Amino acid sequence: DSSPLVLKHGESVFNVEGKIGGDAPLSPRGLAYADALPALITDNIGAAPLTVWTSTLGRTIQTAAKLSYPKLTWKSLDELDAGVCDGMTYEEIAEHYPEDFDARDEDKFNYRYRGGESYRDIVVRLEPVIMELERQENILIIGHQAVLRCLYAYFHNLSQEDLPYIKIPLHTVIKLTPKAYGCDEERYQVPI
Ligand code: F6P
Repeated sequence: DSSPLVLKHGESVFNVEGKIGGDAPLSPRGLAYADALPALITDNIGAAPLTVWTSTLGRTIQTAAKLSYPKLTWKSLDELDAGVCDGMTYEEIAEHYPEDFDARDEDKFNYRYRGGESYRDIVVRLEPVIMELERQENILIIGHQAVLRCLYAYFHNLSQEDLPYIKIPLHTVIKLTPKAYGCDEERYQVPI
């Protein structure tokens, strides 16, 4: 099946604390999602011989832990590098780097964190991932908010302006089926 499945890692401890970036483990809720994931997939997708792609960060690897498929980690799937703001809350960023906070609001796609990345940078580093994805079948990607926005926008052909605001829901598997024009999708959710 050439429709990739994409999902965000389960809720992390940093998500609960409102902190960005980092390499925090899953929260208890996130762990419950990881436990529920194998059944969610077999109930909705069946017994397809999937391959799981994660980032190199612990929260995607932990989310994949209960899945018994071959796995591959991609550095290119790591979350947007927030540079000096890594590990901060949005309130802390607004306090310590008010100009950056405003600049990001002005042009979220192009804003590059000091010592870090922009959404545009992610689009560039995802190019080899997308090329490989288009050559493969039965791929399940466990990613991060910013990275999944870029992948989702690629499949749905959404603008750079809209891309950084796409809602990627927690604890939901999205199946993307590319069409001649546009892309169909199905969503499977665990009520956790
Ligand atoms: O908060 C989780 C997170 O994945 C951060 O690590 C990342 O910086 C952020 O989301 C990206 O979302 P936004 O671009 O809306 O800040």
